[in-house]
Amino acid sequence: MSQMPWWQRSVIYQIYPRSFQDSNGDGVGDLPGIGARLEYVATLGIDAVWISPIYASPMADFGYDVTDYCGIDPLFGTLDEFEQLMGQAHRLGLKVLLDFVPNHSSNRHPWFEASRSSRDSPQRDWYLWRDPAPDGGPPNNWLSRMGGSAWEWDPLTGQYYYHAFLPEQPDLNWRNPQVRRAMDVALRFWLDRGVDGFRVDVLWLLIKDAQYRDNPANPNYVVGEPAHHRLLQSYTEDQPEVHDIVRSMRATLNEYGDRVLIGEIYLPVPQLLKYYGAHGDGADMPFNFQLLNARWNAAGIANMIRDYDNALPEHAWPNWVLGNHDNSRIASRVGMAQACVAAVLLLTLRGTPTLYYGDEIGMTDGDIAPDQIQDPAEVRQPGIGQGRDPERTPMQWDSSLPNAGFTDGRPWLPIATTTSVRDQEGDPSSMLTLYRRLLSLRRSNTALMCGAIENIAAYGDVLTYERRYRNQRLFVALNMGAKDATVQSPSGSVLLSTVISRTGEAFVDGDNQVAAGEGVIVIVRPPTSTPMRNDRDSVRASRP
Ligand code: GLC
Repeated sequence: MSQMPWWQRSVIYQIYPRSFQDSNGDGVGDLPGIGARLEYVATLGIDAVWISPIYASPMADFGYDVTDYCGIDPLFGTLDEFEQLMGQAHRLGLKVLLDFVPNHSSNRHPWFEASRSSRDSPQRDWYLWRDPAPDGGPPNNWLSRMGGSAWEWDPLTGQYYYHAFLPEQPDLNWRNPQVRRAMDVALRFWLDRGVDGFRVDVLWLLIKDAQYRDNPANPNYVVGEPAHHRLLQSYTEDQPEVHDIVRSMRATLNEYGDRVLIGEIYLPVPQLLKYYGAHGDGADMPFNFQLLNARWNAAGIANMIRDYDNALPEHAWPNWVLGNHDNSRIASRVGMAQACVAAVLLLTLRGTPTLYYGDEIGMTDGDIAPDQIQDPAEVRQPGIGQGRDPERTPMQWDSSLPNAGFTDGRPWLPIATTTSVRDQEGDPSSMLTLYRRLLSLRRSNTALMCGAIENIAAYGDVLTYERRYRNQRLFVALNMGAKDATVQSPSGSVLLSTVISRTGEAFVDGDNQVAAGEGVIVIVRPPTSTPMRNDRDSVRASRP
């Protein structure tokens, strides 16, 4: 186990910096604020933090529109403060991952300003410029993921430029070697400062069809879905050449030793797995987002886990994500009781878990009044349920303080609910305590951290599986229904249950009760003839 790379042994915690902790009363979180709360993160049992973009930005998409890939936005702090934060994180044993946003810059980035200035600009080809269609309209039918055409007319030079997201986020031309070099410089800038890895934004979108062919209509489009789903993204995503770029990012990180490369990729599993590359030349972890949209039922999730685990190539390490800044929070998706079950699921699956800030206290989606809307996706497409503000509300530290202790000023988004870290701290039945127990168990238990996952099954509403490492065996049962149920299990004793009084209770060989909404981890009794071994220092996990 000690030979596993650190990121395979880790639990990642995503911090959305605008919403974690404000230190200067401007209502927006910042780096000193994160620093003030880092000990909380470390003592929660987290190993690595991923901080969403903190680069210089006009904030059209809250930092995902970058004007300087090597600078910190003053809203968040300074480069010195970032370096202090990294030092502090490392002293606390936390790794630091940055968001890397290579697909597009801000339209106010000097690169784009130069590119836009004239058709003869040496940087013209850094972005995707096209002549109008014969009728003067956009060059093809490509649609923006934030609504409307993906082409923006630029009267100065009489051409359109492509933007997969906002017009303020022009896509870079990754076929241009100068762009690739400039981005490599940015990666090295942060690697030289000791950053432990990157979550790469929209990695699967970097390359677009060289012939700019129209995307075909999506025969399965359902009215009410985001408008760009009207088309299949055949020519705007997951183009084969993208893997060459992933390989070059990997090669750069390799020069720095044990740094991790994570890709944001929303694709079906067979396509997703290609991003691992061959023989470790791709991303370490193409994010596995299947839980974000999963229907909450035992049989479906059993199949998902089994299919994913079986499909992974030998060298590929799994990962699971329960929430992020682009999707409704788990407690709102499945309800509070099932959010506890989801916590047990996330932290007992095989592979690196990523946890979204606030999910550990069961934060729910905030209620955003029309005059409080911030998300440009919602502003451009009102009412289609795309708004991402609800899951981005400020972290709730202390409900006895104004604004939950997040800011002394007016928070940029409203506080979602009344619960808080302070309310839950020390309460044995709280979600926070559950997360602490799970994180501590995962960290100390070899089977959970790196064992195989086996016997994945669904008995009615109960999902069950085992984690196994050498002769250490854990049985997990998750009741995803609203009724108590009986499951067949091996005999053992309860290591952890969401029903706290059950800890230490015996499970018999055969039928055992699992309460409605209970998640339980049972340490399976070894056969009497084979004493349990201490596997702590053994080598790599076996695959199922
Ligand atoms: C990613 C980010 C999202 C952002 C988009 C454009 O999907 O997670 O928040 O709006 O990229 O950068």
